[in-house]
Amino acid sequence: MATDWNRISHHAMDWAYEAGTVIRESFKKQLTIETKSNADDLVTNMDREVESFLIDKIRKHYPEHQILGEEGSGDDVQSMEGTVWIIDPIDGTMNFVHQQTNFAISIAVYHEGEGKVGLIYNVVNDEMFHAIKGNGAYMNEHPLPKLEKVELEKSIIAINATWITSNKRMDPSILIPIVDQCRGTRSYGSAAIELAFVAAGRLDAYITMRLSPWDFAAGKILIEEVGGTITNLDGEELDMLGKNSIFAGKQNLHQYILDEHLLNDKK
Ligand code: IPD
Ligand code: CA
Ligand code: CA
Repeated sequence: MATDWNRISHHAMDWAYEAGTVIRESFKKQLTIETKSNADDLVTNMDREVESFLIDKIRKHYPEHQILGEEGSGDDVQSMEGTVWIIDPIDGTMNFVHQQTNFAISIAVYHEGEGKVGLIYNVVNDEMFHAIKGNGAYMNEHPLPKLEKVELEKSIIAINATWITSNKRMDPSILIPIVDQCRGTRSYGSAAIELAFVAAGRLDAYITMRLSPWDFAAGKILIEEVGGTITNLDGEELDMLGKNSIFAGKQNLHQYILDEHLLNDKK
């Protein structure tokens, strides 16, 4: 029997809305905040609760699917064969803790390595970015138009300033002409939101050094559905089970920046 991606998408959205309500309620309560790999890598009781909530729902309804989740309560996924859910219960935990805005729930469903269903729910703004492969992308009930061309001079590019210090694979000065020529730069502190904004045309491109699959899996589906491009900084396809540098944007701008700046410097 063919998989009903529409049903899966509705389930994922219902669960994200339900989790969003619980997260908003949590603003009134005391959070438990811990650090993971370093002092800037935060996790809260809500990250864990939301991941468990989503995983329980997925396991109950789709017991044959695999789940890759940031907080580790999913499966030890070693391959993209079959159907794999990739979830980030709260993307932008630092924003959640410090700012109570600009964080999102990110849920993606891949089948045999191909993105089928993607959603990014901006919890505080109540903006649900969602797509089913081949059916277009939406923000709430509004269809997102196909992305049009933009010149670097008229573009807004999201860049994370940690590039300057934590970048060991590329000379940070490579960014100077890009930052100089573009119209403006932004940094929201949630990769999922930044990718959703690229899909929605609010940002023209997004460049970052190191993301995990749960940070970009849903954003990739949304961006590709509106004709945008997402690769690593060398213009190569993303590894869905490993860490990647990320370069997403409108197709013409992505190509131009790769040719003129990112790859040009390696010639
Ligand atoms: C982080 C955010 C942030 C990105 C980090 C991610 P988290 O996710 O997406 O924008 O720069 O690399 O780890 O930890 O808040 O889910
Ligand atoms: Ca994340
Ligand atoms: Ca997270």
